[in-house]
Amino acid sequence: MTVVINMRDGLDERRIRIAARFILEGKLVAFPTETVYGLGADALNEKAVKRIFEAKGRPADNPLIVHIADFRDLKKLARDIPEEAKLLAERFWPGPLTMVLPKREEVPLVTTGGLDTVAVRMPAHPIALALIRASTPIAAPSANISGKPSPTLAEHVIDDFYGKIEAIIDGGETRIGVESTVIDLSSEKPTLLRPGGLPLEKIEEVIGEVEIHPAVRGKLVDVARSPGMKYKHYSPSAQVIVVEGRRENVRMKIAELVEEYRSKGLRVGVMATEEYDADEFFHLGGSEEEVARNLFRALRELDKRGVDVIIAEGIEERGLGFAVMNRLRKAAGYRIVWA
Ligand code: TXA
Ligand code: MG
Repeated sequence: MTVVINMRDGLDERRIRIAARFILEGKLVAFPTETVYGLGADALNEKAVKRIFEAKGRPADNPLIVHIADFRDLKKLARDIPEEAKLLAERFWPGPLTMVLPKREEVPLVTTGGLDTVAVRMPAHPIALALIRASTPIAAPSANISGKPSPTLAEHVIDDFYGKIEAIIDGGETRIGVESTVIDLSSEKPTLLRPGGLPLEKIEEVIGEVEIHPAVRGKLVDVARSPGMKYKHYSPSAQVIVVEGRRENVRMKIAELVEEYRSKGLRVGVMATEEYDADEFFHLGGSEEEVARNLFRALRELDKRGVDVIIAEGIEERGLGFAVMNRLRKAAGYRIVWA
C-alpha cells in the first residue's frame, strides 16, 4: 500500500515524522527536492537500498546519490575531502550540486553501485531537509521508472510507483526541474559527469576550469566513472526529435517536420518556446529557467496525449541550457536535426 502524504501547503513536522519512521524501518519514501522528486531509502541499509533498484528497474551498477542535511555528515560518508569540495559546499549547499568523493567503509557497495566512491548532495528543499534530519542520510535516485523522464510533480511519481512503495510526499511542483549537476572530485582534475541545475559556469567561478567527461556530449567512451551515462534516459514512448540551429531556421524546420510526419498519418506534438501549429503543443516558456522547469513534464504530458512523434526545439547550451540540451538529446536517442 502507498500512502500519499500531502504537504503542498508546506512543511508539516508531524507528517515528516511518519515519513521518517518509514525510512528508518527500511521502507521507500518518495519526496520532493528542488530539482526533481527522489525515491528515498536509508542510505546505509543494504536491503532498503536494494529495493530502490528493484522498484525502478535500475541496473545494479548505476550508483545512487546520498542526500544529507548537515555538512558534518559528509565526513561520515566520504574521505580525502579536497579543498575544492569544501569551497563548493560552502558556496552551493544546500543546492543542486552533487559531489563524487572516495567513500568510507560504512557506505554499502549496493548504494554506490560497486564503486569505491560515493555521490553526496545536500538538497535545498525544506521537506527533503526535514525528512533527512528526522531520519538519516537518504539514498535517492530520481523517482521515475528507469529510462522514463524524471518526475517534477507528485502525480508523475504516483504514475510510476503507486502500489510499489510505502509513501509519496506531495510537495507540489519542483522548482528547478532538472537534476543536480554531478562533479567528480575523487580524481586529479575536477570532472563534470552530468550538467544539471547548477550551471557549470558558476562552479568554475569557484574552483576554476572543470573537465567535461566525454560521455556528457554523448560519446560512449570510458563509462566506468559514471555508469549512469551508458543507459537509455528520459524517454517517453513517442519518438523524440530535437531540432537545433539558428532560430529562424529552427522555426521553419519544425514547421516542415510537423507537415512531413502528419502527411504520413502520424500524430505530432511540439514542445517549444514559441507557438507552433501541431496536433499537440506544449509551451516550454521563454527563459532557460522556465524551459528547465517544464522539460520533463512536457515529455510526460505529450506522451499521455498520445502523440507518435515529439518535435522539441533546442535552446542555447549555456547556463541551465547545458542541462536541458543534455536531457533532450538523450530523450531523442541523439536524433538531432540541424537546421
Ligand atoms: O537532482 C538530483 O540529483 C536527483 C534528486 C533526487 O536529488 N537525483 C538524481 O539521481 O538525479 P539519479 O540516480 O537519477 O542520478 C544520479 C547520477 C547518475 O548519473 C549516477 O550514475 C551518478 O549520479 N552517480 C552516482 N554516484 C556516482 C559515483 N559514485 N560515481 C559517479 N557517478 C555517480
Ligand atoms: Mg535519474
